Amino acid sequence: MTIRLGRLDDIPDGTARGFSFGGGTGRREIFVYRGGGTLLGYENACPHQGTPLNFLPDRFLNRERDRFLCATHGAQFRRDDGYCVSGPCEGKSLKPIALRVEGAEIFWVP
Ligand code: FES
Repeated sequence: MTIRLGRLDDIPDGTARGFSFGGGTGRREIFVYRGGGTLLGYENACPHQGTPLNFLPDRFLNRERDRFLCATHGAQFRRDDGYCVSGPCEGKSLKPIALRVEGAEIFWVP
């Protein structure tokens, strides 16, 4: 099974975008970052308390835009592997998701 997330053009280089699917206990939240020609995707759940990283839509990066930021308690994660380098869950990691690109389309492979 694959789920179409949109087109590459929908995520400009250096930005991230969040997606939500389903509802109730089956709800899944993910986000996708595009940087330097690479797409990286993670579950949108902080390893500290399981909350989504962002308060505002598509706001996943810190001010310097070099790490992902959890808005709840300020944990910061490396973009390349989701490893938490500072904050209350230091040493833990975001859970990566599988993505596939076909032409200009992005798909999530849950
Ligand atoms: S829930 Fe993310 S740092 Fe606490």
